[in-house]
Amino acid sequence: MDKFMIEGGRKLCGKTEIQSAKNAVLPLLAASVLTDEQVTIRDVPAISDVENMLHILSELGCKISRTADSVIIDSVNAVSHEIPARLTKELRSSVFMLGSVLTRFRRARISYPGGCDIGLRPIDLHLSGLKRLGVEIVEENGYISCSADRLTGADILLDFPSVGATEKIILAAVKAEGTTVIRNAAKEPEIVDLQNFLNRMGGRVRGAGGGTVCIEGVKTLSGVEYTPIKDRIEAGTFLIAVASCGGELEMEGVPEENIAALLHKLRENGCKIHRKDDKIFLESSGRLRSAELIETMPFPGFPTDLQAQFSALACTSRGTTLVVENLFETRYKYAAELRRMGADITVRGRNALIRGVERLHGAAVTAGDLRGGAALVIAALGAEGQSSVADLSHIDRGYSEFERKLKKLGARIRRVRI
Ligand code: EPZ
Repeated sequence: MDKFMIEGGRKLCGKTEIQSAKNAVLPLLAASVLTDEQVTIRDVPAISDVENMLHILSELGCKISRTADSVIIDSVNAVSHEIPARLTKELRSSVFMLGSVLTRFRRARISYPGGCDIGLRPIDLHLSGLKRLGVEIVEENGYISCSADRLTGADILLDFPSVGATEKIILAAVKAEGTTVIRNAAKEPEIVDLQNFLNRMGGRVRGAGGGTVCIEGVKTLSGVEYTPIKDRIEAGTFLIAVASCGGELEMEGVPEENIAALLHKLRENGCKIHRKDDKIFLESSGRLRSAELIETMPFPGFPTDLQAQFSALACTSRGTTLVVENLFETRYKYAAELRRMGADITVRGRNALIRGVERLHGAAVTAGDLRGGAALVIAALGAEGQSSVADLSHIDRGYSEFERKLKKLGARIRRVRI
């Protein structure tokens, strides 16, 4: 198990490159089995969620090859409709495979994806959407078995704008007979990316990014070469890190509208942020005023995936910040670790009350999930003295070359194997 050793208290300055979005690449990989032709996805980040997804694809019979930064998937010989149980446990987004495997094989079998570090993660909306498309679903002994003689378009209303459910239904509807309409669909940029990807393959998807997505089923989809959008959550993580430590940051290729809610809050904190062409610049004194209230919402609201990182910033902002986590039940595991660093943070259910302190002090802390781990690194970078952040397997799921990028900004951080 690796850990980071971090010497805190240094300003961060410079330009950082942003990886392709983890939460765009995963559904695109799932969609690659929808064609017998070659699919090339460029700039694939070196993160373990992607590795696990590629493992699932190869278990289905897909041929995976790589160049420097691209992945090439050839699924002409994909034969299995069963997603291995041991891999589903590893990776929740293997659930994405349900939709595309169903489209390809008219049947699919997956072990029930349990909850994970941040909550129960039910998939009732996924399954009710698939049923509307004519899928028979049997849930027994911890397995979900799906079959459909034919997939037919339907009008589907989601009780909640679930990202996964929206993507799952799109992948099951893209070659269905007739038209599917998804109402109250999730609006995340990663869904727009999936729409663009499928349309480049010959799909007929429109409306992604708005609340209603229309999918006109087509008979075949061709291969494609595609570069995914930049990772708005990685971008937000670096913006928050520099805001918290003080300094300056430049990044490019992340549309401002994809992180508007965060930029709005960082400006409330007192950061100077401006955009020039497709570059975003941030300046921070490092001693900011509190943003007072952070409420996580589906896009375009404040992203739940930046809640932990922003809470780390709030620990040393002047004043009190109330954080309300509306999407996941247990997304405050990092709070106890921040308290070890001297944070004044009280959690009650989905709410956290954070009273800013002058500075945090270094401590030995352990990551409990992906974004909570990033929050602990942000806290340690701004803290007085030395910290260690253990169990980097969480961070490595979603951030490629995290320590290299931070070092390039001036951070004193190194990875040690224990
Ligand atoms: C996606 O998860 C992201 N993961 C998550 O990012 C992100 O936090 C989340 O969307 C919200 O933006 C990927 O894209 C791989 P949801 P997903 O379905 O699809 C409830 C990260 O850190 N719900 O939008 O699982 C659910 O309980 C990860 O990169 C149901 O009730 O999120 C939750 O409260 C973490 N029934 C809410 O919707 C369902 O059938 C949001 O879930 C599905 C979801």
